[in-house]
Amino acid sequence: MYTQSFNVPDGGTPTLQAVSVPVDADLQARFDAVIDADGKIEPRDWMPEAYRKTLVRQISQHAHSEIVGMLPEGNWISRAPSLKRKAILVAKVQDEGGHGLYLYSAAETLGTSRDQMFDALHSGKAKYSSIFNYPTLTWADVGVVGWLVDGAAIMNQIPLCRCSFGPYARAMIRVCKEESFHQRQGFESLMTMMQGTAEQKAMVQDAVNRWWWKCLAMFGPPDADSPNSVQGMRWGIKRISNDDLRQKFVDATVPQAQVLGVTLPDPDLKWNAERGHHDFGAIDWDEFWQVVNGNGPCNQERLATRVKAWEDGAWVREAALAHARKQEQRARKEAA
Ligand SMILES: [Fe+2]
Ligand SMILES: [Fe+2]
Repeated sequence: MYTQSFNVPDGGTPTLQAVSVPVDADLQARFDAVIDADGKIEPRDWMPEAYRKTLVRQISQHAHSEIVGMLPEGNWISRAPSLKRKAILVAKVQDEGGHGLYLYSAAETLGTSRDQMFDALHSGKAKYSSIFNYPTLTWADVGVVGWLVDGAAIMNQIPLCRCSFGPYARAMIRVCKEESFHQRQGFESLMTMMQGTAEQKAMVQDAVNRWWWKCLAMFGPPDADSPNSVQGMRWGIKRISNDDLRQKFVDATVPQAQVLGVTLPDPDLKWNAERGHHDFGAIDWDEFWQVVNGNGPCNQERLATRVKAWEDGAWVREAALAHARKQEQRARKEAA
């Protein structure tokens, strides 16, 4: 998963290792021609520094979101209600780890190192999707995260399969296929609970009530407050605006909620025949910014868990490096 439109500035963007090239009119014209023709920019192609920086920020925030996104659901692996649910959840959480790895690799092709990106995350400078700063209180939350959070992520990420930067676009194709499984397993799990006891149904409704508005905020601030989006569109990084994606998500989700038998917690949600879309109520952007700026219920816990995992894994990295050095020495000795 997961985006929040990615136009949220980090506390500090990792320093780029790449040497910036003075802007050459021919190079700029060639870049513009590729963008205008809806072509792909590859890592070795010349690109404007601002394009490179925007992508480093977006792709690294996306990678961090995948990795931090493993935590709220990972907490439920040991408490899954059956072997089947546990196997599905383990597979999903592993997929998210894989998404993070593809994305860190894609960002590395732009001249930023993995260490720089991890430093930015662990020091609290880098952003990740705020949705993961909320707790998963019951088993129903696991289903709702799949249905709604992964569902919102798919809406955001399908247009990224057509992103102008080749490695990002290609990574997104596989990511989206896996996100589709995540969304379906969540819906199916909720469907099962909705055919169960009154307590189970109430648990699902409670989880929907707590997650719905946060999912709508995942698409990022309204278009009027997203000045970076225009440049992102021009560069072929962003294809559909935050508000249009949010509308698509609402329109797609309302009939699914009806099938499930849950109520979406918005008294203003209704079909508008004139617009051909659902109208919906106002999002609490103050809460969104509070959480983006570090004051959500789980910001500190998520970061502390990530830092601990990084520190606990130090011996694995050291062992791998020592092994690589040994292999290199042996190969050198054999070649001599
Ligand atoms: Fe993912
Ligand atoms: Fe996912």
